[in-house]
Amino acid sequence: MKLAVANIKGGVGKTTSSMYMAQTVVDRGGVATVYDADPQSSASLWADAARDNGDELGFEVLPANLSTLSRLGRDERPGAWQIVDAPPQGKLLQAAIEAADFVLVPTSDSPMDLQQAWAMLDEARASRCF
Ligand SMILES: Nc1ncnc2c1ncn2[C@@H]1O[C@H](COP(=O)(O)OP(=O)(O)OP(=O)(O)O)[C@@H](O)[C@H]1O
Ligand SMILES: [Mg+2]
Repeated sequence: MKLAVANIKGGVGKTTSSMYMAQTVVDRGGVATVYDADPQSSASLWADAARDNGDELGFEVLPANLSTLSRLGRDERPGAWQIVDAPPQGKLLQAAIEAADFVLVPTSDSPMDLQQAWAMLDEARASRCF
């Protein structure tokens, strides 16, 4: 399963959701890979900090660029999830959406944030031809 966690709004929980989704997959006996497509590298920093603390995560966090995402094959291992922590804009966001089986749009319930979430959903629908 390929999942893109995306929102054009920043600070809405994309990285946190990506990492917790991956851990949930592992906790349920599956395998997960998080593809860090955000130039801020928050998911990679998270994994590095865990390693530095001697508390390695149970899943891989790999950097992802345009080439990585546009060529993202399917992980055929049983129960495998590939989770893309998407950037808020640009070709990488587009590539993350196109690579994914589905898109998760985290948001707060504030009217301003919901407006951005709807815009994000419209963009995802348009590019996936839903
Ligand atoms: N479900 C949640 N409940 C409360 N706080 C949360 C939740 N998810 C994330 N946070 C907090 O919200 C902040 C932003 O989260 P996060 O970095 O995951 O967002 P982001 O969308 O990846 O941000 P960015 O746009 O900078 O990449 C962090 O301080 C995080 O701890
Ligand atoms: Mg982030």
